Amino acid sequence: GIPKFVKIVEVGPRDGLQNEKNTVPTSIKVELIRRLVASGLPVVEATSFVSPKWVPQLADAKDVMANVRNLEGARLPVLTPNLKGFEAAIAAGAKEVAVFASASESFSKSNINCSIEESLARYRLVALAAKELSIPVRGYVSCVVGCPVEGAIPSSKVAYVAKELYDMGCFEISLGDTIGVATPGTVVPMLDAVMAVVPSEKLAVHFHDTYGQSLPNILISLQMGISTVDSSIAGLGGCPYAKGASGNVATEDVVYMLNGLGVKTNVDLSKLMLAGDFINKHLGRPSGSKTAIALSRV
Ligand code: HMG
Ligand code: MG
Repeated sequence: GIPKFVKIVEVGPRDGLQNEKNTVPTSIKVELIRRLVASGLPVVEATSFVSPKWVPQLADAKDVMANVRNLEGARLPVLTPNLKGFEAAIAAGAKEVAVFASASESFSKSNINCSIEESLARYRLVALAAKELSIPVRGYVSCVVGCPVEGAIPSSKVAYVAKELYDMGCFEISLGDTIGVATPGTVVPMLDAVMAVVPSEKLAVHFHDTYGQSLPNILISLQMGISTVDSSIAGLGGCPYAKGASGNVATEDVVYMLNGLGVKTNVDLSKLMLAGDFINKHLGRPSGSKTAIALSRV
């Protein structure tokens, strides 16, 4: 059976906006986060404390946090690639962080400029510092099925990195199909391998929709016992270090499917649509959510 409740982790303000050619003004980011929280989403990833040379789109992380840190109703984690980022995040008022490793050596190098092992060593330091402050740390694994450079990634490698993140204290491990090449045919063996070493209730799935496979991938993940799903408002996103990767699966589409399955999310789809309209108007393009497009015609 599938879970009765699914926790949706909204990543649009981070995974979405990190990839926009034109940097979105801080005030628009803040209003987007407010609207996402108001729609009932339990977790809204707000921004990243990464190098502004690597991701200029999120260089205003401190100012974003200053405006949303006291918002009630949702957790607002931020990405931190190292201790420097962790310290800046805490100083800015973040109460939860996420570290991001990769199952592909090439992607690790191009995304965070170090090897997988070097990244795990950095993240152990972040996890230790976080533990002292009782700050929950989420761990991401990227390229869980495929890598733009290396092609297919062995599930054993994904399981290894996931287990390392779990062992250092990450409360949840999000499995990222960074370039959106997964199908249910590759998701099942990958999840089998990871679930052999990390309990399914500690796992999340994070699909990009490059080949339109996200919803079937999510459905099969739910059937395998996953109950946390990452998605992005209006399907915003991609990754600046994964050329050609499209946005995450659209949150509106995930909520529509889960509503149809009778799975609770606590998310109000009409309020979510308003958040989507808001950012699409600002970006000047149609929604990347089929549900949002269909419902706006009704
Ligand atoms: P580096 O150049 O190797 O780092 O970058 P460094 O330690 O040599 O420092 C270089 C400069 O950056 C220095 O400044 C540091 O102070 C500064 P300078 O002396 O040249 O003026 N610096 C920082 N500044 C602000 N915040 C920091 C920070 N750290 C160093 N935290 C680094 C290494 C990791 C910093 C860099 O590669 C980086 O920031 N990468 C982030 C890339 C990124 O954000 N990618 C997107 C997120 S991952 C993703 O989207 C996948 C995911 O969605 C899941 C999926 O889809 O699979 C999560
Ligand atoms: Mg992503």
